[in-house]
Amino acid sequence: MKPITVLVSVDSNSILLGAKEFLKYLNELIREHNLDTIVEVLETGTIGNYNGVTIAIMPDNVYYSVNTQEDVLKIFEEHILKGRKVLELEIDKEKVLNLTTEELPKEYKIVTRNIGKINPKNIDEYIARDGYFALAKALQMKPEEIIDEIKNSGLRGRGGAGFPTGLKWEFTFKTPADQKYIVCNADEGEPGTYKDRLIMEGDPHSVIEAMVIAGYAVGATKGYIYIRGEYYGSVENLRKAIKDAYEYGFLGSNILNSNFSFDLYIRLGAGAYVCGEETALLESLEGHAGRPRLKPPYPPQSGLFEKPTVINNVETLANIPPIILKGADWFKSMGTESSPGTKVFCFAGNLSNRGIVELPMGVKVKDLLALSGGVAGGNTLKMVQTGGIAGTFISTDKLEVPLDYDSFAKYGVSLGSGVILGVNDKHCVVDIALNVMKFFKHESCGKCTPCREGTKIAVAILEKMSKFEGTENDLEELIEIANVAKNTALCGLGQSFSVPLLSLIENFKNEFLEHIEKKVCSANICKKVEKTKKKAKLAK
Ligand SMILES: Cc1cc2nc3c(=O)[nH]c(=O)nc-3n(C[C@H](O)[C@H](O)[C@H](O)COP(=O)(O)O)c2cc1C
Ligand code: SF4
Repeated sequence: MKPITVLVSVDSNSILLGAKEFLKYLNELIREHNLDTIVEVLETGTIGNYNGVTIAIMPDNVYYSVNTQEDVLKIFEEHILKGRKVLELEIDKEKVLNLTTEELPKEYKIVTRNIGKINPKNIDEYIARDGYFALAKALQMKPEEIIDEIKNSGLRGRGGAGFPTGLKWEFTFKTPADQKYIVCNADEGEPGTYKDRLIMEGDPHSVIEAMVIAGYAVGATKGYIYIRGEYYGSVENLRKAIKDAYEYGFLGSNILNSNFSFDLYIRLGAGAYVCGEETALLESLEGHAGRPRLKPPYPPQSGLFEKPTVINNVETLANIPPIILKGADWFKSMGTESSPGTKVFCFAGNLSNRGIVELPMGVKVKDLLALSGGVAGGNTLKMVQTGGIAGTFISTDKLEVPLDYDSFAKYGVSLGSGVILGVNDKHCVVDIALNVMKFFKHESCGKCTPCREGTKIAVAILEKMSKFEGTENDLEELIEIANVAKNTALCGLGQSFSVPLLSLIENFKNEFLEHIEKKVCSANICKKVEKTKKKAKLAK
């Protein structure tokens, strides 16, 4: 029998589907059959973008989607023992996606280079795939050379705003101070977004390595990872990775005999969306209530404890080691001129597949939808929201739009954090708008009036509309509230609820008017329709 490696995707999604139990069961079967020396089972980060727990058999390169112990037993008895594929469990891209492979955009593996390939809890496996080589290289460079390389690469922040990373580092480098900080924004409060979680779970060392490089480049000796408290898997893997990095000398004093020292700490957030906003995050890190600060000054001038601070998103940081190793020109060869590199997208809503895909910047929405497997359950696509809860809702005639950091200015379509949320035709636009605005109302920190009061009034109006009591004046007021908050709210939270709200009104005005004029909800969601139906039923 030839040696076999079995990769089991153990991330927080697959754990819920039984990944840990399947892993244990598989190991038991292997032990019972005395195959320990021939079959190696490895736990790894997320593999693929499929439903079920993905188990990959190497070197055969066969991927299975597993949902029960019987599935595991079948794979063991058929594939591992007899070398025969279990066709009904095999993940067949063409079958799953209902498309030929040529039609699909090719996935890239830059940020996701190690995810699903290494055991994230094993630092040696990271090192074996060139891990910490970029740090060793960077420590031989001058800080200015590193900053130039990142500037030349054109890398822009993946946390949503797309600010040039090299410039941010340069500002911090140029601000004199006795102490500077690197902060990793791992708050990921955007509903539907989970790419940072899968990066941290599957490849925690890539974030740590990047933070040390950033620290050396700007002159910071301390770093903090501010992470959502409920990201248990990421926290566990990061803690183990930090401990190992200290033991191997990649963190702590005199890193790789360079005279440079860097300490890294984890701080858990309590799950407020606003704490992802960089200045609210700093307030929370300092132990205060997470409310945004007035800007300027910006964090590179005055950040954590009023010291110059770089704040970068997880995905932004995961790009740093490959750029240092392969150079700015290599990075610029992917993506678009103004948004080089790749983007990690995640699928949400009524789409068939779950998971992340990494594609070059500039990929079209329709190609992402193809990779998502399209709308689940044979329903029809009504609209797509791109970029997260603060992103744009687009109708199906705009699916050709390419996504990068200029798409919003050019086509009114946001890239944001990279969520692609499909909405099927069973949903009502007023109901969606109401849910979005309830979220913003709940998450508003209350510090400024346009956001605190605007979200409340918007929710009240939309509740009226959902009861068919809204008027055309209400619709006008909604638009006004959104525009006022866009122009006057203190932080990005209040400034951005106009994006989903106005895009819904712009693209689906007819449906709002139907609720107002005809008192009809075409998706039969709004309350009065249901009440009337119930009454009619009772009367029968
Ligand atoms: C309400 C709000 C929530 C945010 N949440 C996050 C978040 O969860 N993660 C993140 O990286 N950036 C988030 N941002 C953006 C950050 O303020 C900041 O731009 C980002 O962390 C900078 O990192 P980058 O340049 O690497 O993108 C949020 C912004 C706003 C306004
Ligand atoms: S815009 Fe909203 S979240 Fe931001 S400071 Fe004002 S009230 Fe707080």
